[in-house]
Amino acid sequence: MAISFKDLGLANTKHMFSKAVVGGYAIPGYNFNNLEQIQAIIQACSEIQSPVILQVSKGAREYANQTLLRYLAQGCVEYAKEIGKGKNIPIALHLDHGDSFELCVSCIEFGFSSVMIDGSHLSYEENVALTKKVVEYAHKYDVSVEGELGVLAGVEDEVQAEHHTYTRPEEVVDFTKRTGVDSLAISIGTSHGAFKFKPGQKAEIRLDILREIEKQIPGFPIVMHGSSSVPQDLVAKINSYGGKLKEAIGISEAQIREACKSAVCKVNIDSDGRLAMTAAVREVFATKPEEFDPRKYLGPARNALKELYKHKCCDVLGSAGHAFD
Ligand code: G3H
Ligand code: 13P
Ligand code: ZN
Repeated sequence: MAISFKDLGLANTKHMFSKAVVGGYAIPGYNFNNLEQIQAIIQACSEIQSPVILQVSKGAREYANQTLLRYLAQGCVEYAKEIGKGKNIPIALHLDHGDSFELCVSCIEFGFSSVMIDGSHLSYEENVALTKKVVEYAHKYDVSVEGELGVLAGVEDEVQAEHHTYTRPEEVVDFTKRTGVDSLAISIGTSHGAFKFKPGQKAEIRLDILREIEKQIPGFPIVMHGSSSVPQDLVAKINSYGGKLKEAIGISEAQIREACKSAVCKVNIDSDGRLAMTAAVREVFATKPEEFDPRKYLGPARNALKELYKHKCCDVLGSAGHAFD
């Protein structure tokens, strides 16, 4: 039987975004696949009073089982209330990179408060048609929809793009009007994963294109995917404990911060969390080889993740302290 996100105590993204756009900050879109990740997200965001978007990819849904994911998200609301002494931070449950109408419908019926329909690999007209179809369905249930224009280089689930196709500012008015989306993911040089730039390449995103897009749709909520900064201390730690991450390079936090001051109101971060967890787990395995209780390595991983999320919300996205505006 279909269930509404409202019955689970979740929020859609509309109010979060309208406040973020005028407030000059962005809401974190943090991906999760397991218990420790979700604990770290909720503890971090509750303690610093940041609204949060919990993201579930298609892969996460397959990995963790969607029934369990839903109960985890539902549990998050109660957990956040416990930490907030009766008052929980706004929490959205979002499908990341939905690739079909059917998947979006299934998530909406399962209690998601927001879905992304990623038609960025389709032709422009096909993207418009698919996104509009999802919006028409989702809005009947007050669920928010994120669309995407432009293609990020790198791997997105099974799709691999060799080069960026930057979002064309001249298309954004038509796309947002015809589809009715609530937010728009754009391609300005960010990419998924830990290898965003080649050594020697200028590690910069195209903030000039972002400004052109904003001129076309002032105040419209913009989303940046692929926004991990790949902290070099984490990469070094992983490698020092036997990892083999060569030449991992991310987006500078200064550039992300700059983007968040404008109409970018959601920033997706997954890879940095993976790095933080991996570094912590590797450290335990290397320095305490006698340990075999998963809590002894997943606990430190959770702590590292929590610190990372706090840092992102406080120092990069600027979302800390905005949960109850
Ligand atoms: O967009 C990609 C996210 O990092 C999710 O990655 O598909 O491996 O779960 P995943
Ligand atoms: P990163 O790989 O840069 O963390 O991006 C995650 C993302 O965009 C999820 O949709
Ligand atoms: Zn993404």
